[in-house]
Amino acid sequence: MIESPSAPSIEVRALSKRFADDARAVIDDLSFSVPAQHSLCLLGPSGCGKTTLLRLLMGLEQPSGGEIRIHPELAQHMSYVFQEPRLVPWRTCLENVLLPLELTGRNDEASRANALDLLQQLGLQERLQHFPSELSGGMQMRVALARALVTRARIVLLDEPFAALDERTRFRMQDLLLALKSRLQLQYVFVTHSIAEAVYLGDRILLLDGSGRARDWREVDFPDRSQQLKLSPSFNALVQTYSQLFGEMEDSSAISNGGEVQR
Ligand SMILES: Nc1ncnc2c1ncn2[C@@H]1O[C@H](COP(=O)(O)OP(=O)(O)OP(=O)(O)O)[C@@H](O)[C@H]1O
Ligand SMILES: [Mg+2]
Repeated sequence: MIESPSAPSIEVRALSKRFADDARAVIDDLSFSVPAQHSLCLLGPSGCGKTTLLRLLMGLEQPSGGEIRIHPELAQHMSYVFQEPRLVPWRTCLENVLLPLELTGRNDEASRANALDLLQQLGLQERLQHFPSELSGGMQMRVALARALVTRARIVLLDEPFAALDERTRFRMQDLLLALKSRLQLQYVFVTHSIAEAVYLGDRILLLDGSGRARDWREVDFPDRSQQLKLSPSFNALVQTYSQLFGEMEDSSAISNGGEVQR
């Protein structure tokens, strides 16, 4: 176990990423740290480097400068959820969730029991033998989430996972993620285009500007998160603050582009 919940589990120092030596930096001089068991939401205009940052954290891309430190006890237990569920169409719901265990040779009794438990927690116990084409979008995303967690992930990186869902399903998925966070002591880094979603799900929020730099870093500390929170003045004030920050970024980008807003 990590000794103290305030010990950083993700530390990023002076991180930069260029895809070619002469290309502009996609991530530019980024530094932040997230304590254990705290979630991070990434916000920013399209093309600002959110997915790139997630891929850097996962080790799918290498930094051009700076460093990323993930607590060694957690670094081995990271998984990634894409915007689309990316399920194998000819495998059932259960078989999709078992796939990472099969690929890593850990398809033992205890792991299978864990998979079934997760599917139950995600409300999919009646769908185990269904194929992806027989599941709704929200169910497919829950299968993808179970598949990401079945290897007993401690940090999950999610790239706009709920973007394609209708609003009510999206709200249910947000609450499921929060429940899993506290039940499994899960930490997540969550990319979204929705300000309200970031404010609802993030213990920390990093807003990137169009040049891959930190525009705003904030600790968010709501004592209790349920959909009711979205009606509260403090929640809405924070949403307003981010709308304003986005507006300012668009204005300055419009000025530097001769009046044309570049996203
Ligand atoms: N493999 C790559 N090679 C070259 N350039 C890349 C590569 N991956 C991303 N980029 C560039 O890096 C920039 C940031 O891309 P990224 O996908 O991280 O943005 P994003 O913030 O996730 O955008 P969106 O909100 O639209 O998903 C873009 O200009 C993109 O074209
Ligand atoms: Mg992206």
